[in-house]
Amino acid sequence: MHLNPNNPIGVFDSGVGGLTVVRALMERLPFEHIHYFGDTARVPYGVKSVETIGYYTTQIAEFLLEKQVKLLIIACNTMAAVSAQVVRDLSPTPVLDVIEAGALNALAATRSRRIGVIGTPTTINSNAYGRAIHQVEPSARVVSQACALFVPLVEEGWLDHPVTRLTAQEYLKPVLAEKIDTLVLGCTHYPLLKPLLSEVAGPNVALVDSAEAMAERAAALLTNLNLHTTSRTPADYQFWVTDVPLRFQAIGERFLGRSLSNVHVVKW
Ligand code: DGL
Repeated sequence: MHLNPNNPIGVFDSGVGGLTVVRALMERLPFEHIHYFGDTARVPYGVKSVETIGYYTTQIAEFLLEKQVKLLIIACNTMAAVSAQVVRDLSPTPVLDVIEAGALNALAATRSRRIGVIGTPTTINSNAYGRAIHQVEPSARVVSQACALFVPLVEEGWLDHPVTRLTAQEYLKPVLAEKIDTLVLGCTHYPLLKPLLSEVAGPNVALVDSAEAMAERAAALLTNLNLHTTSRTPADYQFWVTDVPLRFQAIGERFLGRSLSNVHVVKW
């Protein structure tokens, strides 16, 4: 299949959280056009069944492929954990997912090979990070912890709040007890908690931001496939959502780190 380098990159997530990945891509690849899809009507995915997530993921991937994207990026850790293969099977264009990117960056960062992973309950139950890490480094010790309360806390904007700090201390206690030296932020929302998590984890633990890891991997893939855009005009960004919930604009802009326009609602 011939891919046009000037076609957009398609990025998708269960809601607005994947905008952390878009933000990292905008910084790393400023000329690339991006189509983002956030399933704001059906979020959260992190507590849904594998079957349901697979069905939703297929719908979204097909929607973006119709927009002629040259690369599909699964920004949602939960979708990547349980449905990455579903997307790879149906996509004629290359597919990258945050779990692969986060696992490889964790392995690059660790010295002791003791790695912590935090994510939604579905991501952690799937053990997708553990499998991705062990595929490369079978001797690594992976300690996982589901942190169900982080998504609502971040959406509430409590990024530096005593309740969030206490919650983080509680969640990280068993993980830190395993003497990890690297912690993977395995959820779209967690990069916003980086300063707080870094304080709670302490200076000896490196945090792997899966959004940044993804931007690096996307840049490397475009180079390998000779697919960088030749355009030097301002990039075009389009945002597709299935609902515009209360406070959508404010929450979306917090994730994106800039104003959010060109938002279209898709009715399914
Ligand atoms: N985007 C999800 C993830 O990265 C978090 C929100 C959800 O549960 O849908 O796991």
